Amino acid sequence: MEVLTARMHDEKIQGSAYVQGSAIPGSSARKFYIESYGCAMNFADSEIVASILGGSGFIATADFREADVVLINTCSIREKAEQTIRSRLHIFRQAKRLNSGMLIGVLGCMAERLKAKLLEEEKLVDLVVGPDGYRTLPVLIEAAEEGQKSVNVLLSREETYADISPVRINSNGVNAFVSIMRGCNNMCSFCVVPFTRGRERSRDAGSIIRECSGLFEEGYREVTLLGQNVDSYHWYSEKGGDVTFAMLLEQVACISPELRVRFSTSHPKDITDEVLFVIDGHENICNYVHLPVQSGSNRILQLMNRTYTREWYLARIRRIREIVPDCGISSDIISGFCTETEDDHQETLSLMHEARFDMSYTYFYSERPGTLAARRYADDIPETEKKRRLDEIVKFQNRMSRSSNLKDIGSISKVLIEGDSKKSAAAWMGRNDQNKVVVFTKQGNSLGKGDYALVRIEHSTGATLIGEAISKA
Ligand code: SAH
Ligand code: SF4
Ligand code: F3S
Repeated sequence: MEVLTARMHDEKIQGSAYVQGSAIPGSSARKFYIESYGCAMNFADSEIVASILGGSGFIATADFREADVVLINTCSIREKAEQTIRSRLHIFRQAKRLNSGMLIGVLGCMAERLKAKLLEEEKLVDLVVGPDGYRTLPVLIEAAEEGQKSVNVLLSREETYADISPVRINSNGVNAFVSIMRGCNNMCSFCVVPFTRGRERSRDAGSIIRECSGLFEEGYREVTLLGQNVDSYHWYSEKGGDVTFAMLLEQVACISPELRVRFSTSHPKDITDEVLFVIDGHENICNYVHLPVQSGSNRILQLMNRTYTREWYLARIRRIREIVPDCGISSDIISGFCTETEDDHQETLSLMHEARFDMSYTYFYSERPGTLAARRYADDIPETEKKRRLDEIVKFQNRMSRSSNLKDIGSISKVLIEGDSKKSAAAWMGRNDQNKVVVFTKQGNSLGKGDYALVRIEHSTGATLIGEAISKA
């Protein structure tokens, strides 16, 4: 099955992905359409779903109006994420009124959170399948075709889909996501993920290496290893010999020096020096760590149940910079968590100042039903105040990102070319070791997608570095 690209929007991965298939004219095969929201893990899951459906004789379509099965892979992380999905469902329901044979299925975290309630709330939804239930999709679709409402929201302690070869969606043929674990055993009080994704479990190391090697052979040049907390990856091999995250990272890096390796997300309480030494020891493991801090106030960190202090976090940042000089560091920050005072907020700004993040993903607190925070604490900061604090955080981060980019001017970056620049087909876009976007003209070089280039950075606009290629790297 051929899968082509579509569009993206949303905060981190930003958005929705559509599968576009190679429908054979006149073919009677049933067609599915899938759209994804939320984090990279959800996008990776949609590639597993595409593979399972492909194996059951379905072909993909990019037009939901002509689909027999319309699937939406959903996110529950903030209320706004769920609202976006409800308005998409509204559009799909209208399409179903014109095509009564169409089935609508809700997958992912919102399916898991709301379970059968979704069928009552969202009339005309036929299927509700949680993140651990995708193997049963073909059977559930059949049951739904016979008029039954189908639900599978069982969470598993074992499922990792290790043996399923994902069908790449939205692929540029250069970068791919590879899930190395599922679920999360932390209980950050604001977070819905432990409820929607279940217990943490690691995927068979051998299957990860095989998937990454296969991607390299197909021409991919970058893999991002995914987990909610990659540092607690642990595979107990039957042949004896455990595999830790540091060992796995090293094994993936050894596939080829031409394959770049990234990973996300690290947890400040778990990231080890061993992992940092592996990063430093391999040129092809990117010098980049995403280390969400959430808040700079010890009181708030405790209420959030993050299990580290501001001092611990800053010590980890110093250690990263000691072991991996030039490491790009980004973070996640939440403003306006329960009881947050102006002083707590100022502590977040001062931590940002000390940590000097190159980039941050920032959010205002959104209470999620059933979480520890929703049960224990009042959501007592007015939304206007949450947004005012968020605005200060964003402005402060923008200033720091600009000054981090200014420091790069005159330096030479190794850039992996991902495709045309969004603004002009006459320029290439790629990212450097530190995960910064670099744009440079195609003129005067014979480089292509998937090539590495040495680029001299000449100036920067907002978040992007602009340069000139010196040579192929
Ligand atoms: N596993 C990762 C993050 C997963 S969710 C980690 O531990 O860091 C991605 C980010 O969404 C979080 O880091 C947090 O900043 C944000 N987030 C999670 N729940 C939220 C909520 N209820 N309101 C606002 N932001 C939230
Ligand atoms: Fe959520 Fe915390 Fe787990 Fe991240 S580590 S997914 S924030 S519970
Ligand atoms: Fe959203 Fe689920 Fe990911 S809640 S952020 S899609 S794990």
